[in-house]
Amino acid sequence: MIAFISDIHSNLAALEAVLGDIRAKKIDEIVCLGDVVGYGPDPEACIDLLKDLKTVLLGNHDEAVLTGEASDFNLRARRAADWTRQRLSDNIHNDPLKQERWNFLERMESIRQEGNVTYVHGSPRNPTKEYVIPRDATNHGKMKDIFDQIPHLCFGGHTHLPGVFTEKFEFFSPQDLHNIYIPDSSKAFVNIGSVGQPRDGDIRACYATYDGESVVWRRVEYDVDKTVQKIHAIDALDRSLGDRLLEGH
Ligand SMILES: [Fe+2]
Repeated sequence: MIAFISDIHSNLAALEAVLGDIRAKKIDEIVCLGDVVGYGPDPEACIDLLKDLKTVLLGNHDEAVLTGEASDFNLRARRAADWTRQRLSDNIHNDPLKQERWNFLERMESIRQEGNVTYVHGSPRNPTKEYVIPRDATNHGKMKDIFDQIPHLCFGGHTHLPGVFTEKFEFFSPQDLHNIYIPDSSKAFVNIGSVGQPRDGDIRACYATYDGESVVWRRVEYDVDKTVQKIHAIDALDRSLGDRLLEGH
């Protein structure tokens, strides 16, 4: 069974809680679909917990930290990316641990094909940047184009809104499906939700498992206040980035 995690966003308390939940299950592999960093207060600790994973995809925030290019970000996201980049790269040549963390970001892949299953952060059309949001389900042109680029199932993150898009131009949230989706032979795009910044109104960390037969979305409580307090204590991180964790939006 694979556990998919995504959009951790430097939220260590959420990541630790999810990894604890995963450890208690029969999981063979953890796949990270991107945005390990950005927005949150603990980029180093989150990277350290994930740096030995075999498969880590590149998210738009990871990319912005790596390249220093975040012109398509809003101000608070850009400031957080700049702060993260500075923390991870200042004096890097004198610090092997920093170099190792940077190498981890550089190793991230844009898209990965495992048999007939595709892994990506955003979408197969634009792996790091494109959003596929619930109302896109009825956008036939967009969804057809996306489905044309995948052989069967695609797992993604990026929107922080878990659910599944079907070839029949429908979107189902985990609540609609009692947290379980059983794929058939038709194609589907599965959003596995966000560990560190859920935006579906549920403040608990979200991840998903897939055992080859069913996708299960899972929610894990964590110490939200701890992360909020850390964000509020860092000037470069906008207070709203903490406040939104208390609302799940
Ligand atoms: Fe994200």
